[in-house]
Amino acid sequence: MMSLVQDILHSLRHLPDFGSINFEVKIDHLLELKADKVLVLSVFQNLIHNAINYCNQDRPHVKIKVEKESNGIVLQVIDNGLGIQEAIRDRVFEMFYRGHPDSTGSGLGLFIVKNALEKMKGTINFESEVGKGTTFTVHIPNARNEHI
Ligand SMILES: Nc1ncnc2c1ncn2[C@@H]1O[C@H](COP(=O)(O)OP(=O)(O)OP(=O)(O)O)[C@@H](O)[C@H]1O
Ligand SMILES: [Mg+2]
Repeated sequence: MMSLVQDILHSLRHLPDFGSINFEVKIDHLLELKADKVLVLSVFQNLIHNAINYCNQDRPHVKIKVEKESNGIVLQVIDNGLGIQEAIRDRVFEMFYRGHPDSTGSGLGLFIVKNALEKMKGTINFESEVGKGTTFTVHIPNARNEHI
């Protein structure tokens, strides 16, 4: 799991402001997750990408936390960035929805995350305060399917 996060951060290193972000990565030892690697990667990658994209310009801080839970893992991606307005809370998971006019993305990231989690029978929630930041919390259960 640590190397998954390191690989993602490495792949995102050319994003604007990447170099000024203070990253904090906390990952439980002894983590084990039986799940589809591609789906897990897309969840981590899109949430981390957003945390970097929508982070605070002054003192950006991004925290990535992964903990073991009884039948899987909990991932939290925490930023101190722009936040998500109450009015658009229900829309951010929609296909092609972009909440910030200056977003250069295609509005697919959270749609992909939501779909990946549906496939894995996981869940996603977030808490956000405009101007303060956003915390996404994801639960991913171990897959029952032995082939994964
Ligand atoms: N960590 C975050 N902080 C603030 N706003 C966010 C955050 N994550 C997502 N959003 C808001 O939710 C919208 C939808 O996010 P999503 O990842 O689906 O699309 P995107 O980032 O605009 O484009 P893409 O992911 O395709 O590059 C974003 O445009 C942004 O307004
Ligand atoms: Mg995105």
